[in-house]
Amino acid sequence: MTATSTALKHEVKDLSLAPGGKQRIEWAGREMPVLRQIQERFAQNKPLAGIRLVACCHVTTETAHLAIALKNAGADGLLIASNPLSTQDDVAASLVADYGIPVFAIKGEDNATYNRHVQIALDHKPNLIIDDGSDVTATLVKERQHQIGDIIGTTEETTTGIVRLQAMFNQGVLTFPAMNVNDADTKHFFDNRYGTGQSTLDGIIRATNILLAGKTIVIAGYGWCGKGAAMRARGMGANVIVTEIDPIKGIEAVMDGFRVMPMIEAASHGDVFITVTGNKHVIRPEHFEVMKDGAMVCNSGHFDIEIDLKSLAELSTEYRQVRNFTQQYFLKNGKSIIVLGEGRLINLAAAEGHPSAVMDMSFANQALACEYLVQNKGKLEPGLHSIPTEIDKEIGRLKLQAMGISLDTLTTEQVEYMNSWTSGT
Ligand code: ADE
Repeated sequence: MTATSTALKHEVKDLSLAPGGKQRIEWAGREMPVLRQIQERFAQNKPLAGIRLVACCHVTTETAHLAIALKNAGADGLLIASNPLSTQDDVAASLVADYGIPVFAIKGEDNATYNRHVQIALDHKPNLIIDDGSDVTATLVKERQHQIGDIIGTTEETTTGIVRLQAMFNQGVLTFPAMNVNDADTKHFFDNRYGTGQSTLDGIIRATNILLAGKTIVIAGYGWCGKGAAMRARGMGANVIVTEIDPIKGIEAVMDGFRVMPMIEAASHGDVFITVTGNKHVIRPEHFEVMKDGAMVCNSGHFDIEIDLKSLAELSTEYRQVRNFTQQYFLKNGKSIIVLGEGRLINLAAAEGHPSAVMDMSFANQALACEYLVQNKGKLEPGLHSIPTEIDKEIGRLKLQAMGISLDTLTTEQVEYMNSWTSGT
């Protein structure tokens, strides 16, 4: 059942799921001490009072804590999904029923519904946009130029969104500031690496229940997400092959101890393939043709474009659903290929996304980036802006403090030494 109401401003699967969602949101909060501190401060200071805000994020227990922080801050907010298959319906229900936050997101919604929700978000006439993949910002720029005057800025969560924003800027159409949350150290070092690393394998295991030990896992892309997935797959006993197009990342993968080769060679070796490149058709017909019978393919990059599923369907006589999030394609060459999560983010489709402890820092960056945009309204140039180092370091400091870990501090002598150049050998 779908509960729809524009008066109440929500479109979620089923409001009766709210109690289970609330319990899971509270559970996630245990691992999100930095964002909880921000929630408390925002409730006192109300830094976003009077600001209309839309967030386009994966609707998870962790996003719920970001939404609560923004509501505490006084924002008039609305949340939509950033992917048709990543919504946790119980969380969406609880945000509406228990926290009074408007949500438009249903797991498994079709592309038309997804796009309609983007339009509903823009109908909210936002001053701030929190994007994960840049769909709201791109639609604003393409279709709602007349609303750009309302915009204070946008914040972007993921590598794919940053690439899109940079392309917009290069074409001269990004005419407002955009905070690059993805590139904060307290975001990509942890979320992209440890978050994607763990949750991607979690998604594969929940979808298939296969043993990873002894399998050959091919990882396409050795950015932070690929590094994390490769590291964790090796930790589970898999033989890992990396494919890359960038020479530096290729050397890095070799020196990290992985085999590196082109996809056309790796295709015949792999038992499981994971794409994390951000680019399209990384696995395509010539690769499917030479894969082993029963090879599994999945994606952990933002969009469902990395695996050429249209071509796979054309190479196949039929496909059938064999488990949740698991489809078996029967190829005309007599072999079959298993597609996980319909080629969408496997960690969010079949599992719960990154664990709360890393999203704590990612979403602390999001919350503080919104506050920064409002504090600096009218002062920032159009285009991408890094998260200020003081904010990044403060999030790291708070995280360590919450973990009960202390660091050394520089002595006066060390500070002087670091600021001098006269003493050498
Ligand atoms: N992106 C990856 N994992 C996520 C999560 N748990 N919540 C929100 N966005 C995510």
